[in-house]
Amino acid sequence: MGLGDALARLKLRLQLGFWPPPLDGMQTFSRMRFLHDCVLDLAPAAGAALEVGCFKGGSTVYLGMACRRRGIAPVAAIDLFTGTPGWNQSFDTHDEARARLDRWGLADVRLIRGDSRVVAWDMPLAVLHIDGDHSFEACSADLARFAPHLVPGGIVILDDYDDVHPGVTRAAREFLARGGFEIARDNYRAGGNGSICLRRVQAR
Ligand SMILES: C[S@@+](CC[C@H](N)C(=O)[O-])C[C@H]1O[C@@H](n2cnc3c(N)ncnc32)[C@H](O)[C@@H]1O
Repeated sequence: MGLGDALARLKLRLQLGFWPPPLDGMQTFSRMRFLHDCVLDLAPAAGAALEVGCFKGGSTVYLGMACRRRGIAPVAAIDLFTGTPGWNQSFDTHDEARARLDRWGLADVRLIRGDSRVVAWDMPLAVLHIDGDHSFEACSADLARFAPHLVPGGIVILDDYDDVHPGVTRAAREFLARGGFEIARDNYRAGGNGSICLRRVQAR
């Protein structure tokens, strides 16, 4: 870890009250902080939290910590743990994710090994974090499968809503255009990495 990352980590430790896990390569502290703060500031307290795409549990720590503070339970994360199809990942990340969550005091976070397109889910959701397969088809399928479980006022945070991931931005825009959701907050700057938080509109 370089000096810049070490200082950013220390700053986050002071701001969040827990040591942020080291970055796993595809993350930025800004997106992890965005996820944490959206849950704390915007999520309703009623309902569960679900993450699609946990990898080694880095983002799951931020999600789990924020949900604990917000009183949201249970928290679960779905992953194949063998990487996004096309990555040709040769290692399995389940045990590393489990160990990391346990180390951060999040033994109650449930890890579900499976394909998000078929894993059974029937609980109402306060929070949905989508960071799985970033293709348009996969991201749209994750939204279509899990967003209907969000309670009114429930939020979905889409990681990698940015120019580098056109599949995610297109899926989010088409999803928004169908109605029922509004942009609650965004972390997107043209040309950089970003994420977005959508909220299920309350029935009037
Ligand atoms: C970008 S990584 C997630 C990173 C993680 N959210 C973090 O910030 O530490 C994407 C993950 O999605 C998982 N994934 C891809 N397609 C999936 C699918 N159809 N069902 C479940 N998990 C999937 C991969 O195994 C990979 O671990």
